[in-house]
Amino acid sequence: MTNKRWTISLILLFFLFLYVLFHFVIATQKIERTVEQLQQTAQPTKSLPHFVLISQEFDNPYWRKVEQGAKEAAKQYDVNVEYIGPLRTNMDEQMKLLEKAIASRVDGIIVQSLNDARFTPLIDKAIARNIPVITIDTDAPKSRRLAYVGTNNFEAGQLLGKTVASRVSGNNKIGVIIGSDTSANQQLRLQGFQSIIAQHPGLSIVAVSASNISRIQASIQAEKMLRMYPDISVMVGTSALDAIGILMAMKNLDRGDVQIFGFDDVEETLEAIKQGKIVATVIQKPYDMGFSAVKLMVEHLAGKPIANEYFTATEIVDATNVEQEGTR
Ligand code: BGC
Repeated sequence: MTNKRWTISLILLFFLFLYVLFHFVIATQKIERTVEQLQQTAQPTKSLPHFVLISQEFDNPYWRKVEQGAKEAAKQYDVNVEYIGPLRTNMDEQMKLLEKAIASRVDGIIVQSLNDARFTPLIDKAIARNIPVITIDTDAPKSRRLAYVGTNNFEAGQLLGKTVASRVSGNNKIGVIIGSDTSANQQLRLQGFQSIIAQHPGLSIVAVSASNISRIQASIQAEKMLRMYPDISVMVGTSALDAIGILMAMKNLDRGDVQIFGFDDVEETLEAIKQGKIVATVIQKPYDMGFSAVKLMVEHLAGKPIANEYFTATEIVDATNVEQEGTR
């Protein structure tokens, strides 16, 4: 009896052993296959040049277009573009991302330089370590960056001013919402705008507030402004979400008598132009900026000389051409 039990136990143990062995072999094979696959997919990208594109705000619709252009160029020129940016605009965080890119010795950095004084030393640090830097959207002209790709922001501000001046009549008080008090592109746009308005005695800017590039803040600031200066008849916004923020404020105050002018071609702005709620917008070319910045970086790495400044186009979109713009 005891012998029989021993035999059964041994047979059971044997089958248990076979079962464990079988699973061990299968699992080992699976791991080997996964490692092989990973090696295969990792190898080609590893040898490609690695560029980092640092934006002001990761999920902002304007920056997503810059990303699209950069990724398309990456495909065409066989490089890797890593798109990064703070979740909500934050200069310190953006500078940390730049520091990280420098520390990880990437092959090229494309960065929006929000503020000259703060970004210039970092850009120069990258150059000192032989990492080429191209500024995008906002320049750091005193830094040692290779090139700037983006809008001529002073001229774009002037274009906004000329557009307002040519479409309003009589005397008008203007309220301005800018994206930020500290970013160079917004200051340049404001200066360009002011330079044109100053040439028109019937027009005057009565207030300027910053939206921190947020549509909610743009709305809050615009509402405050309109309560404080109820005789404002024109409102302008100089960053991508400002005009739709201003429009929200108008709804909240139940006012339809203010003419709104904006910047960029986010979907809601174009829709509001179609509905006659926004008069016009100055559009930039964020896709072209992303594409050209990557292309120029590739050319630089191939030893070709590249221009110091590469200005992308701006255009006015209003009721007359908004349909074509929406389908482009
Ligand atoms: C500006 C960008 C900014 C974006 C914010 C654009 O008009 O060029 O610098 O990040 O608006 O929405």
